[in-house]
Amino acid sequence: MSEVANAAPPLSRRLKNETASVHETLDKRIMTAAPFSDRQRYARFLRVQLRLHHATAPLYRDARLQAGLPGLLDPNRLEAVQSDCADLGLSPDVLDDDRRAAAKAVIPDGCEAFGWIYTQEGSRMGAAILLKEVERELGLSSAFGARHMAAHPDGRAPHWRRFKAALDALGLTAGECQRAVAGARAAFRFVQHSVDDLM
Ligand code: HEM
Repeated sequence: MSEVANAAPPLSRRLKNETASVHETLDKRIMTAAPFSDRQRYARFLRVQLRLHHATAPLYRDARLQAGLPGLLDPNRLEAVQSDCADLGLSPDVLDDDRRAAAKAVIPDGCEAFGWIYTQEGSRMGAAILLKEVERELGLSSAFGARHMAAHPDGRAPHWRRFKAALDALGLTAGECQRAVAGARAAFRFVQHSVDDLM
């Protein structure tokens, strides 16, 4: 066999492949809850997003992760989803509950963090479709109520390509890649639990 045929898939490909089934289950579960049929249901979907953003926020401020993924971690995304929650009139008490729920997420201090960030950043890709629905069904937009779904200023697809290239350039060992995949799967499970709790 050639060297190429023997090569392990790049980390970004492994992350996609090894979370495909948990992602599909989550997509179906979320869409079954009809989150865009009225603003109350959408508010519950927003709270799921808020919990994930709270859970990953410390990673976006971590110097080691910033150095590994230079210029790619925007620390203001939590603020966007918090503003969406305010736009929808969610009370501070409810938002405190979500902050406390997110604090229960345990993200090990290793390569798992890259997987959690992968799941968080990738959710921006699906948001392209979700944003259109939110605009059409609920009259919200990336300037009000759905700010967290806005495309990256560099464009959704170009940013995603740069992000995946940076992940692949980290040069993680097989064991470290395994931990990154475990982190991505844990992040999806965290979202799934939040959905079960809130939607
Ligand atoms: C919080 C919930 C969600 C999370 C964490 C999430 C996560 C992700 C991730 C990590 C990717 C990147 C896959 C890759 O490596 O290319 C992705 C892509 C995608 N997601 Fe989701 N997702 C979520 C909800 C949804 C929902 C509800 C839908 C629609 C029913 C959806 C549809 C998609 C689609 C269509 C893509 C592929 C976009 C493309 O490649 O152009 N996602 N999502």
